[in-house]
Amino acid sequence: MDVYGLIGNPVGHSLSPPMHEAGYEALDVDARYVTFEPPRDGAAAAVEGAADLGVAGLNVTIPFKQDALAAVEPDSLARRIGAVNTVDFSGDRITGHNTDAVGATRALRAHDVDLSGTAVVVGAGGAGRAVAFGLADEGMTVRVANRTESKARGLAADVRGEGTDADGAAEDATAPDGVDADATGHGLDALPELLADADVLVNATSVGMEADETPVPAGALHGDLGVLDAVYRPLETRLLRDAADAGATTVDGAWMLLYQGVAAFERWTGREAPVDAMNEALRDRL
Ligand code: ATR
Repeated sequence: MDVYGLIGNPVGHSLSPPMHEAGYEALDVDARYVTFEPPRDGAAAAVEGAADLGVAGLNVTIPFKQDALAAVEPDSLARRIGAVNTVDFSGDRITGHNTDAVGATRALRAHDVDLSGTAVVVGAGGAGRAVAFGLADEGMTVRVANRTESKARGLAADVRGEGTDADGAAEDATAPDGVDADATGHGLDALPELLADADVLVNATSVGMEADETPVPAGALHGDLGVLDAVYRPLETRLLRDAADAGATTVDGAWMLLYQGVAAFERWTGREAPVDAMNEALRDRL
């Protein structure tokens, strides 16, 4: 039996165990998915300990995604984002990946949102970084808007491949991706102007989670947008209600959660994930 898991702190309310185990069941894979709650400074020790114990794969969530980088060999995308959410122990190396980026792009694609043109990403924290790199790697022009404008500008520069990586290493001339990306950073007050000719909007802030609030003025939304809200509790946020009222295509946060899990599942098992079974298990619990 293979053991997969998740490290987070706190980790108690995670929906990943039922989602992944529904996938194992659907494909008759002999595996379990368990959660671990290491101390907050224990990312590297937890990854190394999991390797020693023969864990086959590990997801990583808050607050460990950045610290886990040091314990793995990150792929190019994880290194550029500066965070790891999926660790693979299957080879003779411990490799680190970031499936949050593809979680966002696959969620949008599954709703027939065309990933060309201009995307507006609201938020420049961990989720915002993953989404911005994911959309830029699809070839989209990325406009990051954040409450703290300097963070938006910093993220945009990172997406353009300028300056230093998140781990502080100087960007080398052979950096493969992102260098030609068109990305700019802005404050939230720029949103109406940015959205006027945008094709995709992603909320990667926590706004909408605690209260029925939105970081985007309703009047700035329009029917040509595909709108993904990374918030999944509640599933129907004020932003998504406003977007539906404006005639936009709406994608709730459970789709992003689903597809980051699907991508991890496929990396670990080498099989196409049973997306419908995993989606059902997830939505049953939301
Ligand atoms: P995560 O890893 O989930 O992205 P994070 O790194 O703490 O979490 O980032 C939270 C994001 O939500 C940030 O972009 C933050 O804006 P700041 O960089 O200005 O802090 C944004 N955010 C949180 N609360 C917000 C609020 N009330 N209004 C606008 N943006 C908010």
